[in-house]
Amino acid sequence: MENQRESPLQQRKKRRVILFPLPLQGHINPMLQLANILYGKGLSITVIHTNFNSPNTSNYPHFDFCSIPDGLLEVGASTSDVIALVTLLNVNCVVPFRDCLAKLLSNVEEESIACLITDAVCHFTQAVADSLKLPRIVLRTSSISSFLAFAAISLLHEKGFFPIKGFHFLSDLGSEAPMPEFPSVRVKDIPLIETRDAEKFYQLLMSMMSQIKASSGLIWNSFQDLEQDALPALERDFRIPIFPIGAFHKYFPASSSSLLTQDKSSISWLDKQAPKSVLYVSFGSIAAVNEAEFLEIAWGLANSGVPFLWVVRPGLVRGFEWLEPLPKGFLEMLDGRAHIVKWAPQQEVLAHPATGGFWTHNGWNSTLESICEGVPMICQPCFGDQLVIARYVSHIWRVGLHLEKRLERGEIETAIRRVILEAEGQEMRDRIMQLKEKVDVSLRQGGSSYQSLESLISYIESF
Ligand code: UDX
Repeated sequence: MENQRESPLQQRKKRRVILFPLPLQGHINPMLQLANILYGKGLSITVIHTNFNSPNTSNYPHFDFCSIPDGLLEVGASTSDVIALVTLLNVNCVVPFRDCLAKLLSNVEEESIACLITDAVCHFTQAVADSLKLPRIVLRTSSISSFLAFAAISLLHEKGFFPIKGFHFLSDLGSEAPMPEFPSVRVKDIPLIETRDAEKFYQLLMSMMSQIKASSGLIWNSFQDLEQDALPALERDFRIPIFPIGAFHKYFPASSSSLLTQDKSSISWLDKQAPKSVLYVSFGSIAAVNEAEFLEIAWGLANSGVPFLWVVRPGLVRGFEWLEPLPKGFLEMLDGRAHIVKWAPQQEVLAHPATGGFWTHNGWNSTLESICEGVPMICQPCFGDQLVIARYVSHIWRVGLHLEKRLERGEIETAIRRVILEAEGQEMRDRIMQLKEKVDVSLRQGGSSYQSLESLISYIESF
């Protein structure tokens, strides 16, 4: 009788969802944003996380957290070889994750655990969920189109082209040829990721794909209007419920799940700059450059004459702590035209009226954040999905310029001026403002992401 008097919201409060992010910045951010969205819809949240790159739990007093030992640091795993790191995680976490989940399931009194939501890359969680009879929904943190390019690689691998025949096959075609099985991008945009043992990359992809197919659903931090062509292809190949509910970070004011401290001086410096005058430069949390490339970037920025806010993450330049390779007096010479920080409040930077362009590595979060603020891009993809995303930004959505040639100061200077100062940049800004409008509409009542989120909540509550 007690239950019958509760409002639907109170009843919802009784359902709990358990989330498990991949412990990399570009994956932690969207998973915790998703957690906030689900919490806002009345679900209780528990986050299981590794000790490696453990999130700052004090920023989320409304969630429960359980940490599991992963043994990653002990064996020297690091983001310098992401595939080796993720492969190891999928082995090391099986037992501690299962123990933790079993304990949570046995502890539950009033609340019932509806399902598990884990990062697509953590494929081992499907078998654990099955063994405990808990539905698993997958979060894929990148774009749908780049995912289809990964699916095409795994298909080519099954047909025997990768890795043995792969290189001959690809060089026969030429780097400008359309990618077999995914012609929207060229052979040179195939989202490969370097690792010590290439076969591990293919194994990871195959496991990720098969365990997504075995899951109960797939959530995307993207929106329908952006991926009109990719969505039908995805629905054809992955016959599970699909929920494109992005952009996650637009559901609430800027929040931070940063592993590094965001330097707020970025905003006070931007406050002093003219509207749309500044180039924001950041290559995300993993990409690295060598000393010579770093100096080309620095001189390209300096020679462009454009004001710039530059994130030089500690470790960005291989073999250096931070800014040591910069020539003495470099910043003084620019006389206030530049500001360098170790890590910025990126969402606020992109939303700032002074920001006129974003030189990015095209990680999916950065790209989506740029689209959501209508900021045109200079694309500098480094590996994996970034290559496909850069192609979409520059040639399909046409909201950015792809820096394809080698990193050279003259090329960089020209690209910056084209995007920030010339009519071409304004045309890109006009197009990306239309995408911004589309994402805003999709999030409003009745919009595609809004409706997809409603379906997701009903689906979770049906378990
Ligand atoms: C990784 C992969 O490299 C990327 O290709 C994949 O799509 C997601 O995982 P990362 O390289 O870190 O991510 O890039 P990105 O996806 O752009 O995520 C970076 C996040 O860090 C963004 O949410 C961005 O807002 C945040 N960030 C970045 C900051 O808060 N401050 C900064 O100074 C730079």
